[in-house]
Amino acid sequence: MSTFKTLKDIGDIVGKRVLVRSELNTPIEDGKVSDNYRVEKAVPTLQWLSERGARVIVMAHLGRNPEDSLEPVLVELQKFLPATKFVHDVVGDEARKVVDELKDGEVLLLENLRSNEGEKANDPEFAKALASLADLYVDDAFGNMHREHASMVGASEYIPAFAGLLVEQEIAALSKGISPTSPSLFILGGAKFETKEPLLEAILPRYDTVFIGGALANDFLKAEELEVGTSLVSDGAEGIKKLMESGKILLPVDVVVEHEGEVHVKRVDSVQKDDKIVDVGPETIAELSTKIADANFILWNGPLGYFEGGHSRGTEEVAQLVADSNGYSILGGGETVDSIRQLKLIEHFNFVSTGGGAMLDYLVDGELPGVTALLKQK
Ligand code: 3PG
Repeated sequence: MSTFKTLKDIGDIVGKRVLVRSELNTPIEDGKVSDNYRVEKAVPTLQWLSERGARVIVMAHLGRNPEDSLEPVLVELQKFLPATKFVHDVVGDEARKVVDELKDGEVLLLENLRSNEGEKANDPEFAKALASLADLYVDDAFGNMHREHASMVGASEYIPAFAGLLVEQEIAALSKGISPTSPSLFILGGAKFETKEPLLEAILPRYDTVFIGGALANDFLKAEELEVGTSLVSDGAEGIKKLMESGKILLPVDVVVEHEGEVHVKRVDSVQKDDKIVDVGPETIAELSTKIADANFILWNGPLGYFEGGHSRGTEEVAQLVADSNGYSILGGGETVDSIRQLKLIEHFNFVSTGGGAMLDYLVDGELPGVTALLKQK
């Protein structure tokens, strides 16, 4: 299998300008980073380069509003790398001036890449302008590797490119999830069946059991002709019957429902028209606990209940079961990781991915645009 170059191959970098694509897309609440997991995971590569005398230029995006500034993220980054500089510009004169003045070992964060339309459009001129800031390129933004954007696939065409420490670790761990050791269990929560269908088609032949939770389970229960009341469901869930034929899908047998402001546990065949399913029930967790205890390999993405509405109990109980199990466990997806960090269970997982969409896309076929761009390098 061909592989990309990593920091082991980068050679002498004293005085070299290294452009690092980091994943710093973090939730911001009241102007502050509310979950710094991605920032924490971006630091080792930046530190590694800085300690070896490189002039480190960090580029990243934040959110989907081009006007969002990375300043709150800078505050978080400075907790790890206090001397990090910032410029409210990406490829303009202001940015170039600060880049030119960088000294060996210094770290500079550029403004939100998405403030320039060329980023999402993968505009070759913008990619070239980014690359012209530096001598070398390092991609450490695993969580964004499914995006064919200028900083992910374009900039690396013009200067030598390497994978950062985080990208290397993510690929090594998630490759295990492509061909897991038996008995294997995939726990998939969250919503939007249409975005998960290709993943389910790809993983069902490779996993022994796939448990479906979260709002995604509502689509499956509905396809089984069960009442789901006013629960969140997706459009276009026609492919479910075919997936169920695999015989490997485990669905909730009981659920927590909200009804006129009250919360009840019901069997899935007792849900009423005015009930809203918000979490998995205790019998479901008991059934799942046997699978978790028996599994050699567990991969989990997506919350099992309606988190935003405070229904985190199912996710928390399952997190505890996975943390106590002996199987190799991988966790991914923003909200799931956030809740498990709050429970202080994170260190019980063998690997915790910084990727949401990128992790799911990688598991489909082991390919991502960002990885392909690195592999293209001679
Ligand atoms: C993510 O959080 O999944 C990545 O940073 C990509 O962000 P996007 O979904 O806004 O492109």
